[in-house]
Amino acid sequence: MADIPQYRLNDDTYLPAIGLGTYSLNGDAGAESIATAIGLGYRLIDTAYSYGNEDAVGAGIRRSGIARDEVFVTSKVPNGHHGLDKTRRAFDTTLETLGLDRVDLYLIHWPEPEDGLYVDTWKALVEFREQGRARSIGVSNFHPDQLERIIGETGVTPSVNQIPVDLFGQHPEWREANAAHGILTESYSPLKHAAEWRSHPVVTGIAEAHGATPNQVVLRWHLQNGLLPIPRSRSAEHQRENLDVFGFELSDEELGRLAGLAR
Ligand SMILES: NC(=O)c1ccc[n+]([C@@H]2O[C@H](COP(=O)([O-])OP(=O)(O)OC[C@H]3O[C@@H](n4cnc5c(N)ncnc54)[C@H](OP(=O)(O)O)[C@@H]3O)[C@@H](O)[C@H]2O)c1
Repeated sequence: MADIPQYRLNDDTYLPAIGLGTYSLNGDAGAESIATAIGLGYRLIDTAYSYGNEDAVGAGIRRSGIARDEVFVTSKVPNGHHGLDKTRRAFDTTLETLGLDRVDLYLIHWPEPEDGLYVDTWKALVEFREQGRARSIGVSNFHPDQLERIIGETGVTPSVNQIPVDLFGQHPEWREANAAHGILTESYSPLKHAAEWRSHPVVTGIAEAHGATPNQVVLRWHLQNGLLPIPRSRSAEHQRENLDVFGFELSDEELGRLAGLAR
């Protein structure tokens, strides 16, 4: 089983450096994929109210036989549920559907600036953390000005900002804005554009040099940039491949060539 390093968050807790994305892993088949991933060594499971699979995530964790405290569960406030009361109700539903009495990380899925409620939503998350029902709290898809606003109005800095980062969409300024606040960047859709980069000579050349696959090189690029990728796979073979990324290291020169693929 892989020995997964951990990132220390700004609230002095830890998260495994890689997780399993679960979008579209629903129903019994989804629960089975999640249980398989935990059996392979995944310890961070990323779900959301809006994926409609928190029940499958809860079932997958129970099916895996793992102790609750050994797995880290992330979920997210759904769009349309912003504001103190709606967020409180959504969070109650999330815990009930997961069959858990707390999550390890709770995020605001999208800022929804047109609703103008994300500061109140953030206050609800602070409350959940104080109650011990969310161990850590953070946001997703928040731009730097939106981060500044919730920090300025509440004095509480998110621990995580989950944003889209892939080899072609690297968003260095966004990642730097997170880092400037001590916020860990989680990369969602970390394998996006794989159909294109999987055969790109820069990626295949680096993969060959390390006896690795293109997917492993790209996940390694995320890790060595201090990012926490959450690749999704329903296939045990792919899950295993994506987790087997701690036995080699890319050089600065290789990281530079990969950075050069940003569009
Ligand atoms: N916060 C947000 O707004 C947001 C938005 C999007 C996603 N997310 C989160 O991020 C997670 C990951 O993003 P994503 O689901 O968009 O996509 P992704 O992880 O970038 O890519 C998933 C795709 O890659 C394939 N794949 C995975 N490993 C592979 C491998 N080793 N070889 C070949 N193919 C492989 C999967 O197919 P197989 O199943 O066949 O392996 C699947 O089609 C989501 O599941 C979700 O948890 C969050």
